[in-house]
Amino acid sequence: KKTDDQVLVIFGGSGDLTKRKLIPAVFNLFKGGFLAECYAVVGVGRTAYSDEEYRQSVVFENEHLTDKNKVSQDDLNAFSKLIHYQSLDTKNKEAYATLKERLRALDEEKATCHNYIFYLSTPPSLYEVIAEGLAANGLNSQKNGWSRLIVEKPFGYDLESARHLNQHLRKFFEEDQIYRIDHYLGKETVQNMFVTRFANSIFEPLWNRNYIHRVEITAAESVGVEKRGGYYDSSGALRDMVQNHLFQLVALVAMEPPVKADAESIRNEKLKVFQSLRPYTTEDIAKNVIRGQYTASTIRGEKVPGYREEEGVDPNSKTETYAALKFYIDNWRWAGVPFYIRTGKRLPTRVTEVVIHFKPNHHHLFSANPHLANPQNTLVLRIQPNEGILLKFAMKIPGAGYNTEHVNMDFHYDDLSNVYVPDAYERLILDCMQGDATLYARGDSTEAAWEFIDPILKAWANDEVPIYGYPSGTWGPENADSLIEGDKMTWRYPC
Ligand code: BG6
Repeated sequence: KKTDDQVLVIFGGSGDLTKRKLIPAVFNLFKGGFLAECYAVVGVGRTAYSDEEYRQSVVFENEHLTDKNKVSQDDLNAFSKLIHYQSLDTKNKEAYATLKERLRALDEEKATCHNYIFYLSTPPSLYEVIAEGLAANGLNSQKNGWSRLIVEKPFGYDLESARHLNQHLRKFFEEDQIYRIDHYLGKETVQNMFVTRFANSIFEPLWNRNYIHRVEITAAESVGVEKRGGYYDSSGALRDMVQNHLFQLVALVAMEPPVKADAESIRNEKLKVFQSLRPYTTEDIAKNVIRGQYTASTIRGEKVPGYREEEGVDPNSKTETYAALKFYIDNWRWAGVPFYIRTGKRLPTRVTEVVIHFKPNHHHLFSANPHLANPQNTLVLRIQPNEGILLKFAMKIPGAGYNTEHVNMDFHYDDLSNVYVPDAYERLILDCMQGDATLYARGDSTEAAWEFIDPILKAWANDEVPIYGYPSGTWGPENADSLIEGDKMTWRYPC
């Protein structure tokens, strides 16, 4: 696709995400030849940097980009010429006139054609004032060029704040100018879920309540909150991971085939999934949602602090670092099929996977014991690490009789060693540059997901449901096991 000449303006230009993800992503796009001929980046922040100082900080001294083995000085020099800086007090609406002047000057100098992406990588409290400040200076205009807004997560804190934010942003930007980023959608393996389902004739006919017994999604992290205690303590696992990343995975597993593979059609189908989630009552929440918080422990000989001892965390905090949910999607395809999702920090390993458990055969030919004769087929979509797809199915054990064993058919993305796999941000920024919002969350979906989550947040805030401690390095509170009911059924424990 053609990429228009344009400017990327990053609010929060001296922040951590900019250095760690955004500048490296743009650098890779530059190296890959994806940037338009006339292109510029403008970092915006309160610190008073000159262009040169900013280039030093985000290009030449940025350890996330200057991997000596892969990056040449010539590339860095050429790339740095695209990078600029504008200091601005973002809270002050009057200040945006300066930004407008700067952008107009760049348009003149670089022929960037009044096309702008404004990337909001700031605390969410600034989103509204930035949108307003841009609009007051005509920088939201689509007349002599285009203007797009990328909004980082968290998109709202609950249903009310998400609605409010949507309403506010839409006063100044049309919905099709707003790109709500969810980096999970930029992951190759997440996009591949869509392809696995709809490009193969062997899965989709089975992809429904008649053949699927349950769906399980795990996003486990071995790290704790690291240096983000301050942010995390007012967020928690439900807001940080479930409402956005995990629900995007749920939507991709559960959606109906879209009419076309375009933004409108795909996002229409995803919205319907969120609208079909069976709402929880307070009683349901007590039974079907488990929250936990990691406690101090020793992992492989190393002592790690409990969540409440982490920097920036309230010592009496009830913020969850683990959440597990069982829920239903009340529609024709999924009626009666339970969905289980869980995520947590300080679990034994880092792994994200989607597991489709198929129903067993109805008649057990090979043994009187159904668990031996007829174990369930499972399809595991490994999002990360060891990206790949695993299908488990029964085989005859060689020799007398008909003894069976489950074997693996295992595909690893690594096997495609000659294919370059872009980072999620790289893909997402490129899509926005090209005006493709398919891999961004739409406003109505974001609200629909919050609508489902909101009662849980309220029940937790009112302390209607206990929070369980779990020792760091374990798979979360034992109570989460009780969510998966049924003979010999448990969560899948990936190693
Ligand atoms: C972020 C969360 O959105 O996603 C983090 O704020 C979490 O808390 C991260 O660690 C997980 O992303 P990934 O790509 O490492 O699975």
